[in-house]
Amino acid sequence: MTETRTIRWEQDETGVVTLVLDDPDQSANTMNQAFKDSIAAIADRAEAEKDSIRGIVFTSAKKTFFAGGDLKDMIRLRPEDARLAFDTGTEIKASLRRIETLGKPVVAAINGAALGGGYEIALASHHRIALDAPGSKIGLPEVTLGLLPAGGGVTRTVRLMGIADALLKVLLQGTQYNPKRALENGLVHELASTPEEMLAKARAFIDANPESRQPWDVPGYRIPGGTPSNPRFAANLPAFPANLKKQLNGAPYPAPRNILACAVEGSQVDFETALTIEARYFTELVTGQTAKNMIQAFFFDLQAVNAGRSRPGGASPRTVRKVAVLGAGMMGAGIAYSCARAGIEVVLKDVTAEAAAKGRAYSEKLLDKAVARGRTTEARRAELLGRITPTADPADLAGCDAVIEAVFEDTALKHTVFQEIQDVVAPDALLCSNTSTLPISGLADGVGRPADFIGLHFFSPVDKMPLVEIIKGERTGDEAVARAFDLVRQINKTPIVVNDSRGFFTSRVIGQFINEGVAMVGEGIEPASVEQAAAQAGYPAKVLSLMDELTLTLPRKIRVETRKAFEAEGRSWAEHPADSVIDRMVDEFGRPGRSGGAGFYAYDEAGRRDGLWPGLREHFTKPGHEIPFEDMKERMLFSEALDSIRCLDEGVLTSVADANIGSIMGIGFPAWTGGVLQYVNGYAGGLPGFVARARELAETYGERFAPPASLVEKAERGETYRD
Ligand code: NAI
Repeated sequence: MTETRTIRWEQDETGVVTLVLDDPDQSANTMNQAFKDSIAAIADRAEAEKDSIRGIVFTSAKKTFFAGGDLKDMIRLRPEDARLAFDTGTEIKASLRRIETLGKPVVAAINGAALGGGYEIALASHHRIALDAPGSKIGLPEVTLGLLPAGGGVTRTVRLMGIADALLKVLLQGTQYNPKRALENGLVHELASTPEEMLAKARAFIDANPESRQPWDVPGYRIPGGTPSNPRFAANLPAFPANLKKQLNGAPYPAPRNILACAVEGSQVDFETALTIEARYFTELVTGQTAKNMIQAFFFDLQAVNAGRSRPGGASPRTVRKVAVLGAGMMGAGIAYSCARAGIEVVLKDVTAEAAAKGRAYSEKLLDKAVARGRTTEARRAELLGRITPTADPADLAGCDAVIEAVFEDTALKHTVFQEIQDVVAPDALLCSNTSTLPISGLADGVGRPADFIGLHFFSPVDKMPLVEIIKGERTGDEAVARAFDLVRQINKTPIVVNDSRGFFTSRVIGQFINEGVAMVGEGIEPASVEQAAAQAGYPAKVLSLMDELTLTLPRKIRVETRKAFEAEGRSWAEHPADSVIDRMVDEFGRPGRSGGAGFYAYDEAGRRDGLWPGLREHFTKPGHEIPFEDMKERMLFSEALDSIRCLDEGVLTSVADANIGSIMGIGFPAWTGGVLQYVNGYAGGLPGFVARARELAETYGERFAPPASLVEKAERGETYRD
């Protein structure tokens, strides 16, 4: 047995070589320098000892099969490192190619997650067997980090399943399949239920295919479904760029474009040239800013947040067994479902038994759909529903170790419901409110145990939205923060922790975005352009349509209350140019938003959007009044970034990672930016560039864009926003 650093060579007496991926320096295998050296040495040895080898099996000694590229290295690459980026990938690919074309059967025994580089090793194998382990994922998610799979991933998926399927099923969405769905979609050849069965199947393949080759290495091979040089295929091809353009809506995501170009160009040349094309498109992405932003957010920040960066240390982890959800409306029903899905017993309480049952019926509806689509089983559906007990009787809450309140947004009502249940639930139960606007410290006044009282702000629809904002009130104890954090993780969501403030972090910052869009309408800019600017900036929802969804009376109510509070505290209050537009929309035109049947958009009888309200042009638009499109986009992005900096200054935010993740996952700040503070870091010219641009915007559009002193000082010190 010879050892290379990260791959063990284990050859049995029948000549089967098992290559055990096992990086001794890391918890997961990655395509780092050590792997590059090891795989090259393995290829050398395989070629030298070819005659004694009957077949090769890739597997791993780690929990995951292989984690992929080394993101720590990638995020450091600058444009001047293009050559280095290009060469690193090229060497690994060449080694894998030598093993693939050795003339011996090569099998991937995928014992755990094989994402990105991991699945690319599997693709370089002739036969792929996945262990059907729970939680195991297979796919090429590079696009979600602003990259493309450059370990042969584009070249081989195109040759394996054809351009259309490779793009739609694997490359453009970065879908992560569980083993069963990976099999259905042709990513693997077979499944195994135990590691022993997997290795037995690997041997069986080697026995049956002593001269196995990849389909693309067999003479006469053609890409399934054809290539652009085939007239039938070419007729369909133009739909791809057009569809992609529609999907991206002008937002600046370079990876999908590069993937499309790479797949199409690579399909028209030989295998080796295709690999070179892939490397070139990858190099362009990995040395650019978007990939850095996305890797920072979706890998490093997300990991830090979920690992408990903002969880107070000291408190031992707790598991919630039984939760009381107060209020079975839209939010309560969704919260009940999410808790039950995570295995927690739920008592769902409303004023009447009927209302509570209606809340439980929401879970039934979601589960029926999931059963119909084959995403869950009847048994699991019954089990999950069995965990939700609807009731109107407070006595049923006995023994609950956590309470999540989601009744109407009314302080007095919230106080009443907490008083009603406090003596029934466990004496140390965690007390949470899902309020979206009421300050937690004020709400705590009506709750007997303020140290155990905390804000747990879910987003709608709860079953889909991955974020929960935890709000620490003035008297909330660290123990409660830790318990809330653990509860959010227990239901598989991502928790950010903020200090109490009006609108907390998320609602306050998204308010800036909406105000900015509305203000532009008030200035006389064409409303359709405002909507298009939001889309092109990369926002998932257009700004005026979002305002309609939230209803125009909401910011007004918040404005009135905030103003009152500011005046009571002796703080100065500045009108926002959006205020008068909202007032006119509601008071003069009677258009409070979608729920009222009319807003910035018109709605048909069924409540479907029916175009922007023509009256906007009549009452607000100044024909010919235009501002640069770039200004429109940046006014939205800057308004949120600047307010996030103010949140840091005021101590509402205490973590950069929380800000980045909260902004993308909670309030739709464009993902290409890497989040609201990474946007500032990555802005052209860095922090000084951002400051200069903020000053420009302030001069033209108002003092609200003036850079806060803390930002200016940070820029002068040459720092960036980092935890
Ligand atoms: P909703 O109106 O759909 O549901 C409220 C429910 O509370 C109703 O079923 C009502 O019967 C029930 N309720 C009233 N008094 C009660 C009592 N004494 N005991 C038990 N149940 C009682 O409201 P929604 O949208 O679910 O909002 C609930 C809370 O969540 C509010 O505080 C809201 O601000 C907050 N929130 C709402 C979000 C949204 O997108 N709708 C997002 C985040 C938070």
